[in-house]
Amino acid sequence: MLSKAVAAATALSLAVLFLPGIARGELVYNVASFGARADGASDSSAAFLKAWAMSCSATTPATIYVPSGSFLLRGAKFVGPCRSSSVTFRIDGTIVAPSDYNVNGHSGYWILIRDVSGVSVIGGTLDGRGAGLWSCKARGGSCPQGATNLEFSNADNVYVKGLTSLNSQMFHIVINACKDVRIQGVHIEAPGTSPNTDGIHIGESDTVTVLGSKIGTGDDCISLGPGSSNVWIEGVSCGPGHGISIGSLGSSPNENGVQNVTVSTVTFTGTQNGVRIKSWAKQSNGFARHIFFQHATMNNVQNPIIIDQSYCPYYSGCSNEPSGVSVSDVTYFDIHGTSATEVAVNLDCSSEYPCSSIKLEDVKLTYEGNQAATSSCRNAGGTSSGVVVPSSCL
Ligand SMILES: *[C@@H]1O[C@H](CO)[C@@H](O)[C@H](O)[C@H]1NC(C)=O
Repeated sequence: MLSKAVAAATALSLAVLFLPGIARGELVYNVASFGARADGASDSSAAFLKAWAMSCSATTPATIYVPSGSFLLRGAKFVGPCRSSSVTFRIDGTIVAPSDYNVNGHSGYWILIRDVSGVSVIGGTLDGRGAGLWSCKARGGSCPQGATNLEFSNADNVYVKGLTSLNSQMFHIVINACKDVRIQGVHIEAPGTSPNTDGIHIGESDTVTVLGSKIGTGDDCISLGPGSSNVWIEGVSCGPGHGISIGSLGSSPNENGVQNVTVSTVTFTGTQNGVRIKSWAKQSNGFARHIFFQHATMNNVQNPIIIDQSYCPYYSGCSNEPSGVSVSDVTYFDIHGTSATEVAVNLDCSSEYPCSSIKLEDVKLTYEGNQAATSSCRNAGGTSSGVVVPSSCL
């Protein structure tokens, strides 16, 4: 076992030699010097946790360096609060999950970063190896719910850049109860048939930006749950998957609303939905307001524009009451491309809380090579301007 001082000194000289971009003098803890093995088979959790403990307690910004190669991590909770104002995971290699889904499938996460202010994950690949769990679910066996590849909980000043997340058992990246989060240039990939593998899920979080990312999954590319506010999503390509969704909202009677969300310059290819707002068909005090969907390209998307307030996917767990979630001030601006079904615009709102101030501006959607698409409205009010094809039913 290396002494702490020796490990730090070794790591520091490595940083100076091999890690341009890290400030001279910044502490760098290489997980390999704590015993992590790049063989894809030996559990490196203890080494990662030691590197975390050193970085988190440092008096200066610190980096945990994961060199190239494949590191098996049975699971890891990186928990603060930290003394260091900034801890960065800088990953050149691949971190792989155990192939046995029972190891983490019940706890809900594989890698958790919690109670930290100032944390970054730069580069690298996370491989959740979810295939075993998906086939268990497909067989209808009794299987655990599954683990998220990477969850941030109760954290602020979070930065994720250039990370690749593959084949998560469940959601890939979860942002829960966080503030000031920036996710940039991530690549998320799971088969279109994999269940509940949402790309990025945001909930109970404020000021979250997702930029320039490529997401293909079996569920929503990005989903926003209750309590998401001041969210900016730009330059994302989505597909396969279920689109970008606000919701599901209104699953519980008391929940926080979603407000001030912009989704801009997004391309959807072969997805189930484009831009969607969905809420359960039951009582709730939730809401979605000040939502801007703009500059979207739809390529063969089943439901390019959809508000679904009668959401009841398993025909149980909802009383088929009108949704209590009120949806207002939603703008669709410059949305164009092709719909895979005839109904390209489907606004199905609550009879008890009709959607209000819906705006359609410069929307042009065709159905399969220039056939006319249609739009359908229930309990939806608002205005349209510019060229709107199919013509507005508001
Ligand atoms: C809406 O959210 C964006 C992105 O986070 C932010 O820049 C803007 O100030 C917010 N607007 C309001 C009115 O809060």
